[in-house]
Amino acid sequence: MEIYKNPELFNLWRENHEKKSNEEVQFLKSILNNNIDSLLDIGGADGVHTIPLSKEMKKVEFTIYDGSEELIRNAKKKISEQNISNVKTQVGYFENIPQVLADKSFDAAISMWTTITYVNDLKKRKELYKWLSENIEKTIIIDQSNFYNYPESDLSKSVEIFKNYEIRTTRQYTMYENYLRTGSYTFNFKNLNTDEEHKIYDPEIVQFIEPKEIDKLLGSKWKRTNTFGSYDQKDIFDKKNSKRLITIHEQK
Ligand SMILES: C[S@@+](CC[C@H](N)C(=O)[O-])C[C@H]1O[C@@H](n2cnc3c(N)ncnc32)[C@H](O)[C@@H]1O
Repeated sequence: MEIYKNPELFNLWRENHEKKSNEEVQFLKSILNNNIDSLLDIGGADGVHTIPLSKEMKKVEFTIYDGSEELIRNAKKKISEQNISNVKTQVGYFENIPQVLADKSFDAAISMWTTITYVNDLKKRKELYKWLSENIEKTIIIDQSNFYNYPESDLSKSVEIFKNYEIRTTRQYTMYENYLRTGSYTFNFKNLNTDEEHKIYDPEIVQFIEPKEIDKLLGSKWKRTNTFGSYDQKDIFDKKNSKRLITIHEQK
């Protein structure tokens, strides 16, 4: 999607849409529980979770993996400006993780904000989860929106003012039987100081993965130890009411 090529606009959208990334960071920290030495952030963008986590878990070696050269460039800028020494970056498509990270292993992997869902080719998805099953040693955390309670099709429009920008968003999609969602986002960012406008049209195809499907893809070495419906860990996942679907898998 084009929005991922523009770190400034991506961060405006991200922060405006989900203002609680600190809650997500505290959630991750409490699940990972200082029990790991290395972590792979799949679709880690410019470090929205990894950079704050790296400051709280200083002994952990983090790797941000993302397909957007622009977001990785921004991550590198933050890493150098903030003198962070325990974060590496890697540009690459999720579909190529088994090749790009072939000889690497990590104690934990996270994929936050409905991101691993971009792998919508079944063969590639099987290869990716096989790699995860074999190359992650302890914990896998996958966070998706709860597609079970999404309508079959939707057209929604919003206008918000955030950090001196007017952000107009139109989202439309159709959800198919197996939770494959195809649609698009149209963004219009208007800088209220300069009146400059930036319009982005992003078609999108995402494949929601049901918890049982993740269990199956990871195989018998893994056990799903928790399924949360929110980052505060108070809600056990509930198809009807939960906003998120956050699965935690641990190696048996
Ligand atoms: C929804 S954003 C989430 C970013 C971050 N995890 C967060 O919580 O804000 C999806 C991220 O995945 C990356 N991405 C999407 N499809 C990808 C693919 N097929 N391969 C690699 N990166 C991809 C985008 O560049 C973007 O950074």
